[in-house]
Amino acid sequence: MKLLETLEEIREDIWINLLESVDQQGNAFRYPVIATLSGDEPLQRTVVLRNTYVSNRTLLIHTDKRSRKIDDLSNNPALSWLFYDPRRRIQLHMKSTATIHEPGSELHENEWNATDDSERRMYSVKHPPGTAVDKPTDVWPGQIWNPATRNKQIALSKPHFRVVTAEIYHMDWLQLHPEGEFRAIFEWKEGAWTETWACP
Ligand SMILES: Cc1cc2nc3c(=O)[nH]c(=O)nc-3n(C[C@H](O)[C@H](O)[C@H](O)COP(=O)(O)O)c2cc1C
Repeated sequence: MKLLETLEEIREDIWINLLESVDQQGNAFRYPVIATLSGDEPLQRTVVLRNTYVSNRTLLIHTDKRSRKIDDLSNNPALSWLFYDPRRRIQLHMKSTATIHEPGSELHENEWNATDDSERRMYSVKHPPGTAVDKPTDVWPGQIWNPATRNKQIALSKPHFRVVTAEIYHMDWLQLHPEGEFRAIFEWKEGAWTETWACP
């Protein structure tokens, strides 16, 4: 496993991985855990990283407007990310400020157009994520199973769809490498990264 020897190499490696993982099903960075402040408790969940914009340090996810995370981020846009790549034993913790993109915005439209039916179906669930139901199959509107009404029903789910972008301002990188444990911390300040090695 190649040892990253400079802070600049690490920073580049982070963003290359975040960019590549978007199109790689098997890449562990594609499935980060994100945490919001939910009332006075932290709340975590796994998501799919849908897009990475290296030039403005921004990550993008899709979600349901009825989910807890949207309420949380509306109250407090602080969004924390945790990535772990078991192959290279790299942990990456990031802090960001989130923005929710509503229907009618160009980004919302573009991202909706980029989704496939299997993802759109997720936004058809009848009740907010986490609502108790008697049977697991109770969550879908009946029309979703009828080929004649399925497409119409899926299109109706668009108002539930939300795009969240997150501008990263802090990165804490740790690698358990055969040659030692290496940790580096990056902070975005006044238009540039300040960076330091740190104790693991
Ligand atoms: C592998 C995996 C990928 C997931 N991807 C997403 C996603 O991209 N967006 C999303 O909103 N939920 C995703 N989920 C579901 C969330 O983990 C979570 O259960 C759901 O969003 C409700 O979260 P909340 O109510 O706490 O906001 C995923 C779950 C798993 C297991």
